[in-house]
Amino acid sequence: MEIRKVRENKKQYLPLLLLGDEQESMIDRYLENGTLYILEDGDVKALCVVLEVNAGVLELKNIAVEPAFQGRGYGRQLIEFLCQTYKGAYETLLVGTGDSPLTIPFYEKCGFVYARRVKDFFLEHYDHPIWEGGRQLRDMVYLRRTL
Ligand SMILES: CC(C)(COP(=O)(O)OP(=O)(O)OC[C@H]1O[C@@H](n2cnc3c(N)ncnc32)[C@H](O)[C@@H]1OP(=O)(O)O)[C@@H](O)C(=O)NCCC(=O)NCCS
Repeated sequence: MEIRKVRENKKQYLPLLLLGDEQESMIDRYLENGTLYILEDGDVKALCVVLEVNAGVLELKNIAVEPAFQGRGYGRQLIEFLCQTYKGAYETLLVGTGDSPLTIPFYEKCGFVYARRVKDFFLEHYDHPIWEGGRQLRDMVYLRRTL
């Protein structure tokens, strides 16, 4: 298993990026300036993108694991990799997610705690309704983990 940074042709991973964030125009807002990591175990199994949002705060903008390989610890390994890599350089790893039973328990298991909520974010910033775990996403929920 290897996690490595991708510097060029990041859009080749669009199918996996769209799994973590289903609107391409939103991905375009952070992919260029963000740092993309891929996790390879044989082939590419997972990826994540992080971006500095302000001094001391690094935001996880996208994380996705190939559907057939979810629930095997790859997502957690990416989170732990980020914490090790950026410890000392940033104080906080922040993540914004929908109010979804498919993602919030994952982040909590990985040591994140609730930070704040941005009301109606998905209604205002996405051009179509986003459904996850049988629920339409409305608010953006931010969780944080101290590095
Ligand atoms: C969310 C996602 C990144 C998690 O990655 P993963 O590799 O499947 O998760 P892991 O196997 O590393 O799980 C880590 C822990 O979280 C728990 N967990 C993961 N998903 C969970 C869920 N839906 N409900 C409850 N617990 C969950 C696991 O049980 C595990 O706990 P444990 O170590 O105590 O057993 C992955 O499922 C995914 O790509 N989903 C689709 C894209 C997506 O929604 N991305 C996030 C956008 S905000």
